[in-house]
Amino acid sequence: TVTGIRAREVLDSRGNPTVEVDLTTEDGLFRAIVPSGASTGIHEAVELRDGGDRYMGKGVLKAVENANTEIADKVKGMDVTDQAKIDEAMIALDGTKNKGRLGANAILAVSMAAAKAGAASKKVPLYQHFADLAGNTQKDFVMPTVMLNVINGGSHAGNPLAFQEFFMIPTGADSFAHAMQIGAECYHNLKKVIKSKYGGDATLIGDEGGFGPPCDAKGGLELLMEAVDKAGYSGRVKVGLDVASSEFYVTDGAQKGSYDLDHFNEDKDPANVLSPEKLIAYYRDLADNFPIMTIEDPMDQDAWEDWKQTTASLSELQIVGDDLLCTNPEKIKKAIAEKSCNALLLKVNQIGSISESIEAVKMAKQAGWGVMTSHRSGETEDSTIADLAVGLCTGQIKTGAPARSDRNAKYNQLLRIEEELAGRSSYAGENFRTTSWM
Ligand code: PGA
Ligand code: ZN
Repeated sequence: TVTGIRAREVLDSRGNPTVEVDLTTEDGLFRAIVPSGASTGIHEAVELRDGGDRYMGKGVLKAVENANTEIADKVKGMDVTDQAKIDEAMIALDGTKNKGRLGANAILAVSMAAAKAGAASKKVPLYQHFADLAGNTQKDFVMPTVMLNVINGGSHAGNPLAFQEFFMIPTGADSFAHAMQIGAECYHNLKKVIKSKYGGDATLIGDEGGFGPPCDAKGGLELLMEAVDKAGYSGRVKVGLDVASSEFYVTDGAQKGSYDLDHFNEDKDPANVLSPEKLIAYYRDLADNFPIMTIEDPMDQDAWEDWKQTTASLSELQIVGDDLLCTNPEKIKKAIAEKSCNALLLKVNQIGSISESIEAVKMAKQAGWGVMTSHRSGETEDSTIADLAVGLCTGQIKTGAPARSDRNAKYNQLLRIEEELAGRSSYAGENFRTTSWM
């Protein structure tokens, strides 16, 4: 049972405040820290921030206070193995639809810490506890395929590149550890390739540990392929994109409803403002010329018709809904019905509790969708999502480049999990879209 809650303000990987919670039980102290996005969806649960001058308005002292008082009073004495009950109690206490009163950052920190305490109380690893909570009774586990974000653009870097994330996907690996080795070797080769083409400045890195060359999308994919080739892994490493197109969607004026590929570029070319149809044709061209397996947020978060069109046109690809879905079961339901996409991006802080995250994954898996577990661009040393990816058998995870400890905290935890499972796990590889326990 919960004997105490102590929340505090700490810093994330971008130097912004975030909520940390120490939850105590008879078994000890269990700590969780929540992440924070930059290219956030407008329908995400509310990250409570203080406003004012402190930390450029980004302080989280109100959320900390809420966790230390109202939430602590509510959850003290509750059984940590009953995750649903704890989460439901906090959601009811908040009383809003978007966790805007107490803050999704306050609620999620307690929810994550409670899960860790629950695992300890049952004396099982965290991934096993998550599996139990989701009803995953499989004895063997699936280690997720890694989507390594090695080129950063959009709102995550200072370069003119519109597309936000370029993944190397080491599908042709024998194990998770092998995938990380392949990925890291390709990453170092990419650095060399970028340096020789654009100079050392272009190897400065963005928020998720990837490089920030001044290229366009096609140029970025070419860099990836060259690096893979140089590393000696041709054919064993596929690629993927998170376009994060809501960040460069034109919302007013004559071009309303189109996509400005020069949004982050001071050098504007009117030919780079694309209608949804032209953008789909651009994706088609990229997919025909590069081994692309997955595209996230190809269209704006509220452009549901464009999404439907994209998913139908690029039917062989995984089309991932991030800002479109916000890990929100209601939106996932709509997207399943309308065939808007065919995969969920799982971000625990978009919805704000572990129980609702599990519900979202179940819905997606039941619909035959892929599920990509995800970090945020603002991260911390907390590695809960690594265990979540294994326990919920999501089959894929993206948590940045294989560099910077806020990113590697998750990959390193997955290395530990694979070692601990010794022979009781397999690497998802090319089959990352179809792994399931249901
Ligand atoms: P964010 O970026 O954390 O800044 O939202 C990650 C993503 O878009 O997937
Ligand atoms: Zn995204």
